[in-house]
Amino acid sequence: MTNAASAKLRIQELRESINYHNHRYYVLDSPEISDAEYDGLMRELRQLEAEHPELVTPDSPTQRIGAPPVEAFGIVEHPRPLLSLANAFSFDELEAWHRRACNTLGRDRFDLVCEPKVDGLAVALTYSDGLLVTGATRGDGYRGEDVTRNLRTIRSVPLSVPPEAPSRFEVRGEVFLPRAGFRKLNEERASEGLPLFANPRNAAAGSVRQFDSAVTARRPLDVFVYGLGWVEGRRTPDTHWDTLQYLKSLGFKISPDIALCRSLGEAEEYYRRWLSGREASPYEADGIVVKVNSVALQEELGNVAHEPRWAIAYKFPAVQGTTRLIDIGINVGRTGSLNPYAILEPVQVGGVVISQAALHNEEDIHRKDIRIGDWVVVQRAGEVIPEIVGPVAGRRTGSEQVFSMPNRCPVCRSEVIKPQGEAMHRCTNTACPAQALEKIKHFVSRGAMDIDGIGERMCRALFEASLISDGADLYYLTREHLLSLERMADKSVSNILDSIRESKTRPFSRVLFALGILHIGEQYADLLADNYSSIDDLASATEEDLLALPSVGPRISESIITFFRQDGNKQIIEKLRRAGVRLEDERAGDARSGSLPLAGTEFVLTGRLESLPRSEAEARIRALGGRAGSDVTSRTTYVVVGAEPGSKLAKAERMGKRILNEDEFLDLLKGMSPVGTSDQSHPKKS
Ligand code: IVH
Repeated sequence: MTNAASAKLRIQELRESINYHNHRYYVLDSPEISDAEYDGLMRELRQLEAEHPELVTPDSPTQRIGAPPVEAFGIVEHPRPLLSLANAFSFDELEAWHRRACNTLGRDRFDLVCEPKVDGLAVALTYSDGLLVTGATRGDGYRGEDVTRNLRTIRSVPLSVPPEAPSRFEVRGEVFLPRAGFRKLNEERASEGLPLFANPRNAAAGSVRQFDSAVTARRPLDVFVYGLGWVEGRRTPDTHWDTLQYLKSLGFKISPDIALCRSLGEAEEYYRRWLSGREASPYEADGIVVKVNSVALQEELGNVAHEPRWAIAYKFPAVQGTTRLIDIGINVGRTGSLNPYAILEPVQVGGVVISQAALHNEEDIHRKDIRIGDWVVVQRAGEVIPEIVGPVAGRRTGSEQVFSMPNRCPVCRSEVIKPQGEAMHRCTNTACPAQALEKIKHFVSRGAMDIDGIGERMCRALFEASLISDGADLYYLTREHLLSLERMADKSVSNILDSIRESKTRPFSRVLFALGILHIGEQYADLLADNYSSIDDLASATEEDLLALPSVGPRISESIITFFRQDGNKQIIEKLRRAGVRLEDERAGDARSGSLPLAGTEFVLTGRLESLPRSEAEARIRALGGRAGSDVTSRTTYVVVGAEPGSKLAKAERMGKRILNEDEFLDLLKGMSPVGTSDQSHPKKS
């Protein structure tokens, strides 16, 4: 086949596929592929059409903006078409756009306005003599659907504007569902047994395109306006920034997160800030929109096809993809819980290949109606484990299988129960080897004893060779033991023994966490270490003592008491004691009395520190009487920011916390004297 003939075939294929997905997306509000996959198809088609311009036809999906409107709504002709935006997927592409604009304008810089690209439904609102007269969807850009009645139910859409507003004008914006509203809506739908919305955008689109506006009225929709369509009877501002402020003064809601940027570098910074804080934002954005600020320059640049040359969407990496659910596997956790997980056909999501995803529990699988063999939408959010959003029900063949939990533990074959009121199924055998191994993995993990060089594989090898049966046994390993394992060199044995020895100095709170007491996470371990100066004090605490602590309820106190009652746990504690692991608080005196310099302060660390490991930074904070928290809360005093910080930075900024960089943090510590040996004659509570 000639090159042109194969291009023609491929173009046909792509057009059919894109038309099909357009229909699913715009008309049925039920897409089967992710935006990124759709963008990929469009890109390929555009590329082929650029190489073979003779094959471009007027009905190609590249030649129009969206899907045709649905007649049932009534059709609105847009006096000026609603354009769409070209996309940039990297800074290079953004720069290329900027360079082209500079060349066209014959200048080397211009002001830019950056806005979040909110993920919702584009609308055009027309006002006449002070009143909202029409609200329309974008449709294909030229003709949209009349959804006036529905848009009138959205609180942030003004039904009237002040007398100084132009006599007739059209405002454009995006209707969306904030995250919290989306979550609530899906919870309600789940409890009513209705299918869930895959994301806030589908939920917003589905809510606006309702035939019964009473349904729309119950959805917590919101709108951000981002521009004027056309205006009669008044001069409008000379810049986009002033236009937005002007719209705000007329009572329209604009995004609180817009920024005026003097250079492309500032726009890039804006993008990065959004990307790192996007999980913490109350609404979802799938990228930013960068616009030329001067209206005169916008006009000079004009449009190509259906896209303006003066604006571009700079997209965030995709966080969703679709793939096949091959099977559901089960891990037995350290508390005996049976944790189901999805085994997926590998798929690229946000630059990472995903082949497994969390499935939480049986109820969750049934609630989402996920079946083995389904096509599913998978989602990555930040650094968390990928999740399955839901099945693509339209792609079912009938051979999919409903999942149910086994009656017997997949590891030890003991009976499985589901305690009342709990979501998890549990293996009833406390000696289940899977639980024992998971407890060891937890013991050595970061945040717990943090033993370098002993990862999952090593834990398994030691356990399977019967060299250890719990975490405490690690302290009795000898050089010979380790050398008896396959492929162990002298050098790595020395390193492992060193890190085991070094872990004996971990603070008391970390040891408490490492013990793996049911329900005792890092924060509860800190709380217990703040209130009990030794493991013996804690072990002899009564239920009444424990319940007197803030945020300790019957579930936690019972778990602690049960833990210390079990012989196996008593033996572990004795082994740790003999090995010299820290079983009492390293802090001299009482931090809460204010005798230590950092008493009463809490630090939260985010990002990578250059000069010391995070565990050591936290140990130093504790040694000075401070707390090291894991999340930014009202209790947080300082947030220490290292390289590539997570969403905690944005949260800290929003909450107005004091932010320290690594140097400032080290300076602060330097000014304070460290603590000497622990003072056991000062029990904090007994
Ligand atoms: S400007 C000519 N600004 O993104 C400029 N669009 O393809 C056209 N969107 O569905 C749009 N946030 O509704 C612009 N701050 C923003 C936006 C935004 C979301 C949507 C828009 C349309 C798509 C553009």
